[in-house]
Amino acid sequence: MAKPKLAAQPSAARHVAIIMDGNGRWAKKRHLPRALGHQRGVEAVRRVVRGARELGLEALTLYAFSTENWRRPEDEISDLMGLMKRFILSDLDEFAGAGVRLKIIGDYKAFKPDVVELIEGAVARTAGNSGTTLVIALNYGSQDEIARAAAKAAVKGPITPDAIAAELDTADLPPLDLLIRTSGEVRLSNFLLWQAAYAEMVFTDVLWPDFSADHLREALEEFTVRDRRYGGR
Ligand code: FPP
Repeated sequence: MAKPKLAAQPSAARHVAIIMDGNGRWAKKRHLPRALGHQRGVEAVRRVVRGARELGLEALTLYAFSTENWRRPEDEISDLMGLMKRFILSDLDEFAGAGVRLKIIGDYKAFKPDVVELIEGAVARTAGNSGTTLVIALNYGSQDEIARAAAKAAVKGPITPDAIAAELDTADLPPLDLLIRTSGEVRLSNFLLWQAAYAEMVFTDVLWPDFSADHLREALEEFTVRDRRYGGR
């Protein structure tokens, strides 16, 4: 039987970003290896991408690998790369068929050639889709992104906020409406610093592997009751 659809989109949010945190703690609580926490984290990614589609979001940006994550042990980095590859291989058909467009932000070309090739194939295959854009941040750091954008803007003319924004990796995406971080941590960790200037933020204690489409919907409901004044009154 087909699963019931989620409730109709409860807000006008167009672009949601998530710092997916707590895979390690989820595993530790259960005396399981960290790798299993990341594996369950991928299942949460799958649920949330489906939820984002059903809620009609234009863009969902997920922080999958930061420029700081290279400091993790080699076997954990290799687990994360393996999961990324397997996710693309197993889920691309579904998402591509559902109109999802895949976009990467960050310097993913620093990854191993087989990962880069897989990513580029997936991006090319979904480039013509016009449904939800799934943005995966890979080897991404916001300060690095802003510095790169400023350097590009400087070559073209005066450096203004608009000129920098036009060169960010996210330039073709709707403005960021809502940023969610799981696992109880309350910081941005070098994620979308520029884009979050007027975004609403929801911090939840839920660990990422437990995050569901309903949690996404609840965060969007919270978004609808916030009074966004953009500095005005
Ligand atoms: C944070 O948990 C999570 C990460 C560093 C990686 C997020 C990656 C995934 C969910 C899987 C791959 C993603 C895709 C898009 C297929 P943590 O390890 O920092 O948790 P902890 O703070 O509890 O130790």
